[in-house]
Amino acid sequence: MCGIVGYIGTNEASGILLEGLRKLEYRGYDSAGIATVLEGEIHCVRAKGKLHNLEEKLAGETNPARLGIAHTRWATHGRPEEYNAHPHMDMAKRIAVIQNGIIENYRELREELKRRGCEFRSDTDTEVIPHLIAEELGKAETVADEPLMEAVRQVVQKLQGAFAIAVICADYSDELIVARQQAPVVLGFGQGEFYCASDTPALIPYTRAILTLENGELARMTPLGVEIYSFEGQRLKKAPRTLDVNPVMVEKQGFKHFMLKEIYEQPGVVRACLEAYFDGDWTAADAAIDKPPTHLGLPPDLFANLQQIEIVACGTSWHAGLVGKYLLEQLAGVTTTVHYASECRYAPPPIAPNTLIIGVTQSGETADTLAALEMEKKRRSGFDQNPELLPRLLGITNRPESSLGNLVASIIDTHAGIEIGVAATKTFVAQVMAFYALAIDLTYRRQAKSPEQLEQMLVGLRQLPAHMELVLESQERYIEELAHDFAETQDFIFLGRGINFPIALEGALKLKEISYIHAEGYPAGEMKHGPIALLDAKVPVVTIAMPGSVFEKVLSNAQEARARDARLIGVTPMDEQDAADTFDTLIPVPHIDEMLSPILTVIPLQLLAYHIAARRGLDVDQPRNLAKSVTVE
Ligand code: F6R
Repeated sequence: MCGIVGYIGTNEASGILLEGLRKLEYRGYDSAGIATVLEGEIHCVRAKGKLHNLEEKLAGETNPARLGIAHTRWATHGRPEEYNAHPHMDMAKRIAVIQNGIIENYRELREELKRRGCEFRSDTDTEVIPHLIAEELGKAETVADEPLMEAVRQVVQKLQGAFAIAVICADYSDELIVARQQAPVVLGFGQGEFYCASDTPALIPYTRAILTLENGELARMTPLGVEIYSFEGQRLKKAPRTLDVNPVMVEKQGFKHFMLKEIYEQPGVVRACLEAYFDGDWTAADAAIDKPPTHLGLPPDLFANLQQIEIVACGTSWHAGLVGKYLLEQLAGVTTTVHYASECRYAPPPIAPNTLIIGVTQSGETADTLAALEMEKKRRSGFDQNPELLPRLLGITNRPESSLGNLVASIIDTHAGIEIGVAATKTFVAQVMAFYALAIDLTYRRQAKSPEQLEQMLVGLRQLPAHMELVLESQERYIEELAHDFAETQDFIFLGRGINFPIALEGALKLKEISYIHAEGYPAGEMKHGPIALLDAKVPVVTIAMPGSVFEKVLSNAQEARARDARLIGVTPMDEQDAADTFDTLIPVPHIDEMLSPILTVIPLQLLAYHIAARRGLDVDQPRNLAKSVTVE
């Protein structure tokens, strides 16, 4: 949610900053801007709309500046117009600031500044920051060794909310100041050059030596090095670590969009999860020597006397949580509740003993999910006399180095690799794999199923990647053709039951997000309680019907839709005659245990959403109004 990037060093800053923005554009893309320090002046260029508008404005310009900051915006305060784009400057245009986050007390600060004669040029919350720094700099220059650092340090203490900022000043042409409070920012270390960015993809082309700035920390970056301080002014000793990423992952590799590439990466992601989470040779006989089928490396305290599980998440991660609930309850027999993090943080359930709280977030930076977990941590601490009420927090994330990683002691890493497409695909599949592993781990610990049943599940899981490849190979072209039929469609319904109900929700969300078609997901049995009134020949109904506990029921529900003239599209095994007779259009998937089927059934729905959006000529990887990492409330 907004991307920030900064550079100081010996090379031309503007090219590096623009390249950084390209890598961060997934975080927001309604305006962009860049500011550099050149010959004692701030040179600031901003443009409304996507990054290419800014690039066009800068084309042909030579700018040898070696210090600069740049920003790609997802509007919170103020419309996406050029005057609201970052960087923002003080009145004298000596200081430039970029921010990701929200300054919650900006109204009071703005009013105070106005009373002192400040004139504002934007509607943003951010603009208070350069004005405040200008005021503080006046005082700091007479007393502090590092006036710019000191001025920023004074200002961040006045700001409330979640923010990451980067600051440059025309009078300090070899300093870049960065501060973090509840919004992500990483620092990159090169040879005599240093970087900051909201996320690592912006740094990968230049360095693997990174340091994640933590809440309440400031960095003073100069061509000579980086100094870290607390907001209280204490110098901190911190060393960078080496980032382990493959740069190829952030390229499209011949695919038209990142989303399609990421859909195709899913079998590989499932293989990586299988390898990371499960004992590859495990058989039922191993239970006799108490050799567990999983190796998640989680501390046993997390599960001692476990009575219930609460999952908090948003969006697609919430859907993964719903699949998780099904597995944890039906396999391991643990009562599980799934909360929207944004609701739970203000209306948490009563504190119950021996509860495992799981935060699911691919980015590890979603503000609501982090806040819900922090709230749980806080309200459950102080129960030393009653240890069964103490917090037990587990995170499921694709970014163990994220804020979530700092917040919770135990993590399941989802091994999906960087996901660039704003619509989550491979990270969802990886989250569901993490839930299979957790559910099987718990089932084994609690002896909730026989070792033979567990072995059978493991055999099925190991077959998944090949099945997924088959779906991709055999169905993608067909789904591309099918997408033509929906050029004018305005509403879609997705139905599923049991473990495939969350997949119906996910199919509807994917379609909404990238094609802007209205879509709803329902448990198939609920349709007759209201949504059926929406149906007519213009509303396609996509139904997931996998043989198992609710197969016949789902087919009956689909028949009810058919009787209202809806076009029925079935995601179902090819050789199921009843299903073939029920649906107008079949998207076949291999036969598989119903319990494992979400990993397969989600693929046709992702492809359908992708091809409908691509066919409509929409910006699949950067759909309007969305951002990959939602770091504001
Ligand atoms: C959907 C999507 C969003 C995210 C949601 C949570 O395609 O990407 O709904 O799932 O914003 O994000 P994370 O998982 O980063 O917490």
